[in-house]
Amino acid sequence: MSNQIIPTGREILFPASELIVSKTDLKGRLTYVNRLFCTLAGYGEAELVGQPHSIVRHPDMPRSVFRLLWSSIEDRREIFAYVKNMARNGDHYWVFAHVTPSFGPDGKITGYHSNRRAPQRALIEKTIAPLYAGILAIERDHKNGKDAVAAGQKALEDFVASKKASYDELMFSLKSAA
Ligand SMILES: Cc1cc2nc3c(=O)[nH]c(=O)nc-3n(C[C@H](O)[C@H](O)[C@H](O)COP(=O)(O)O)c2cc1C
Repeated sequence: MSNQIIPTGREILFPASELIVSKTDLKGRLTYVNRLFCTLAGYGEAELVGQPHSIVRHPDMPRSVFRLLWSSIEDRREIFAYVKNMARNGDHYWVFAHVTPSFGPDGKITGYHSNRRAPQRALIEKTIAPLYAGILAIERDHKNGKDAVAAGQKALEDFVASKKASYDELMFSLKSAA
């Protein structure tokens, strides 16, 4: 559905005090969305539940960022990430997401959960949007999907290494530095 939407380049902002929440099953299909999720994405709750989370995927997002997200949560680890999402009408909204696995009483992963806040404007403009544009360009240099993701991941790792921090430390230091 989302790949037929044409991005408008218009950004939607939401208040810093609000949270966008969603939950998914093990395959990333939405099982829960809060009201703000629906409002920003431009869909009703019944239209979203059961759909893949990629329904809000923006074409500017590098594949390697989602690869990192999935490899972390499938490995039972939380992850923080900046994500540009696309609404039904092609507008976009940036989020700072905290994505976690949920566990059942037997310790097995039962699904995934994401809480998102509004990121700081300066950080997106100065650092994250240019970083992602660079990674996307690197990914697009490769015809083969696997090579594209590997090259994108290396670019992301190189950026993190250049800041002399771990990925998680960097996500937070960037957040407070903006
Ligand atoms: C809990 C959870 C939250 C997610 N949130 C988003 C999101 O806000 N935006 C997004 O594009 N993908 C999100 N994803 C990742 C999607 O499942 C998917 O990997 C991504 O949209 C790339 O889709 P594609 O591989 O079909 O291109 C989330 C996944 C999980 C498990």
